[in-house]
Amino acid sequence: MAELWDPWETSEGAFPKSGTSSDKLRFLLNYAVLAPSSHNSQPWLFRIVGDGVELYADRTRALPVVDSEDRELIMSCGASLFNLRIALRHFGYEAPVRTFPDATKHDLLARISFGGEKAASPEEHALFQAITKRRTNRMPFEKRSVPEPLLFELQEAATKETAWLYLIIGEENRSMIAGLVAQGDRIQMSDGHFRRELAAWIHPNRSVSHDGIPGYSFGISSLGSYVGPVVVRTFDIGKGQAARDRQLATGSPVLAVLGTDGDTPADWLSAGQGLSRVLLRARVDDLWASFLNQPIEVAESRSRFKESLGRKGFPQLLLRMGYGQDVKPTPRRTPGEVLIRERIR
Ligand SMILES: Cc1cc2nc3c(=O)[nH]c(=O)nc-3n(C[C@H](O)[C@H](O)[C@H](O)COP(=O)(O)O)c2cc1C
Repeated sequence: MAELWDPWETSEGAFPKSGTSSDKLRFLLNYAVLAPSSHNSQPWLFRIVGDGVELYADRTRALPVVDSEDRELIMSCGASLFNLRIALRHFGYEAPVRTFPDATKHDLLARISFGGEKAASPEEHALFQAITKRRTNRMPFEKRSVPEPLLFELQEAATKETAWLYLIIGEENRSMIAGLVAQGDRIQMSDGHFRRELAAWIHPNRSVSHDGIPGYSFGISSLGSYVGPVVVRTFDIGKGQAARDRQLATGSPVLAVLGTDGDTPADWLSAGQGLSRVLLRARVDDLWASFLNQPIEVAESRSRFKESLGRKGFPQLLLRMGYGQDVKPTPRRTPGEVLIRERIR
């Protein structure tokens, strides 16, 4: 039977301070699962081993059409890894991480241990508090611009995780990027396989599913959310989607590319950790974000997008950011649903 527990309701007062390290790690997974993931697929699994926890990619949750190399899948796991690290820090533990610790297990992405006790910095506490306040906000943002010092901090957040955040400045550049987003929408939506995959992860607003994207996240009413997946699966809605996304891209105060210097699974894991740090840092100052990755996901436009930036390295995600109203959180699987429980010899 599915658990009724909702990880968004986790209260830090419930941390089992005098429990075993396994009790503590299991509790902290409540924060790891609140990370963003493509299509809310939550492609992660965890295994508690002694004084640490292993993070595995769950490739049964892959999105082979939109993400044929599992690039976004690994980034999603990286975001979850960052949340776990910051939760450990918040509760006063060092959190040493070994990424890809076993070359024979390519799904084993990281091993995190309980380090010694060390008080968290104010920045770490603030990032932790932002975990339950973060959502992907696809609504239009206010015109209000984002202060420059905050933009620098967001860039620094990415750099701390060996990723980079490149700001798209100037109307001409922004409009060119918006054009590539619109083109990406048209290409993706004209592909029946893409539509079928997306539709399978869009759920009615009242669904009890612990994963996937409820219609309300796209601003769809309860009634509309029942027909939404059928419409997506059946019709090429690329033209309308392109117009909406072009508007969102040009109307957002900030357009920024999160990227890495290399393009290997290790870089994708860094990008995911950078993503989470950037999104949480943004929420500390009430800033929202959502994604417009189409030109990076579509193979034909990724190289054009890369060239148009005029910056070395590999774009991984395109973010829009700004101020606006709060939106409802999306469902999550509980720690019990993402823990591998087999006995370790
Ligand atoms: C690697 C990655 C790629 C994503 N790509 C998109 C995207 O292209 N379009 C979009 O609307 N949301 C995208 N998202 C956001 C997810 O749909 C979102 O995180 C998920 O539905 C869970 O919702 P939440 O972020 O509000 O918790 C992406 C998230 C991640 C981590």
